[in-house]
Amino acid sequence: MLVRPFSRADTNDIVIRMKAIQYSRYGGPDVLQYVDKETPKPSPDEALISVRCASVIPGDWKVRSGALQEMFPLSFPTIPGRDGAGVVVAKGASCEWAEIGDALCFVTEHTEPGSNAEFVTRPRDMTVPKPANIDFAEAAAMLHAGVCAWIGLLETADLKSGENVLIHAGAGAIGGMAVQIARHLGCHVTTTCSSRNADYVRGLGADNVVAYDQTDFAQDSQEQDIVFDLIGGDAHEKSCRVLRKGGRLVWLIAKPFEDVSAKYGIDSRQALIHDRRDTLEKVAALVSDGILIPQVSHRLPLSEAVEAHRLLERGHNSRGRIILDLGEQN
Ligand SMILES: NC(=O)c1ccc[n+]([C@@H]2O[C@H](COP(=O)([O-])OP(=O)(O)OC[C@H]3O[C@@H](n4cnc5c(N)ncnc54)[C@H](OP(=O)(O)O)[C@@H]3O)[C@@H](O)[C@H]2O)c1
Repeated sequence: MLVRPFSRADTNDIVIRMKAIQYSRYGGPDVLQYVDKETPKPSPDEALISVRCASVIPGDWKVRSGALQEMFPLSFPTIPGRDGAGVVVAKGASCEWAEIGDALCFVTEHTEPGSNAEFVTRPRDMTVPKPANIDFAEAAAMLHAGVCAWIGLLETADLKSGENVLIHAGAGAIGGMAVQIARHLGCHVTTTCSSRNADYVRGLGADNVVAYDQTDFAQDSQEQDIVFDLIGGDAHEKSCRVLRKGGRLVWLIAKPFEDVSAKYGIDSRQALIHDRRDTLEKVAALVSDGILIPQVSHRLPLSEAVEAHRLLERGHNSRGRIILDLGEQN
């Protein structure tokens, strides 16, 4: 791998420019701008990462639209992008945890400068080494989707081997990771997706597929121990009906729903997403072991981030994460 590191003097004394996606107000995809701006400088304990690939996730367009302002208040201008992968090209004065040339996967919170830029600074806890058995696009698709699946199934639902689990949206980035994890743990996995994706989710490990455009899953997937709801709305209420008494309904924020768990005698739990390093490491270990394969749906250049947001906002994304390719820019 060719890496020409910046010297510390470069990052402190010279203004290095980079390309990035940026927006300065809430609104539609058109508020996104492809800009030239100053490269961030690492704090003493941070690494400066040259980003090779970056994700675009549903949360990016929801935050950009202004719908999540209370949860994720932004300071403008802001750079979107929740995770990515790249190579360390410079370090802060006391950064001893990374070496120039290290390949890393990283997460960035919605409220800080994100991954849709040629360079990003990260502290150790927001990174893991890139698994050697995947490319940079897969590496950029790994962390947020894998962490959401892990937190939902393991930390929140307390999934056990042999249990029956229904995972909604198995053809999506998070659902696809969840199907693979549940199958690896020896569960009987049912998943919902459109009929055109039935073979795809079977390939990820689903035992039973319910095509939502042909069949009502509430008629075809009774007596589940766990449902992982990534859809909300009507699917949430119906999910209560397919759970056994005392079953666990784990949900991520998607379409609004009414909590009717008490009426059905089931245990409703929100999966609260965090970026703790021990969880990032568990996901990366499953990938390194070849158990979990991050799924990439589209690859677009950084300059086409607007198109990525449009695809997601129209519900046209399928079979994994949309990835922005940045190439080698140093
Ligand atoms: N903190 C949080 O609460 C949190 C965190 C992360 C994500 N989320 C939310 O979780 C959801 C999933 O995220 P993601 O990244 O996995 O999205 P994604 O990759 O864009 O997934 C989209 C998938 O949803 C599937 N789908 C759409 N309608 C469906 C239905 N009625 N039944 C079953 N599947 C359906 C589609 O399947 P087909 O292609 O087969 O049609 C598509 O593959 C998003 O709404 C996201 O905002 C919340």
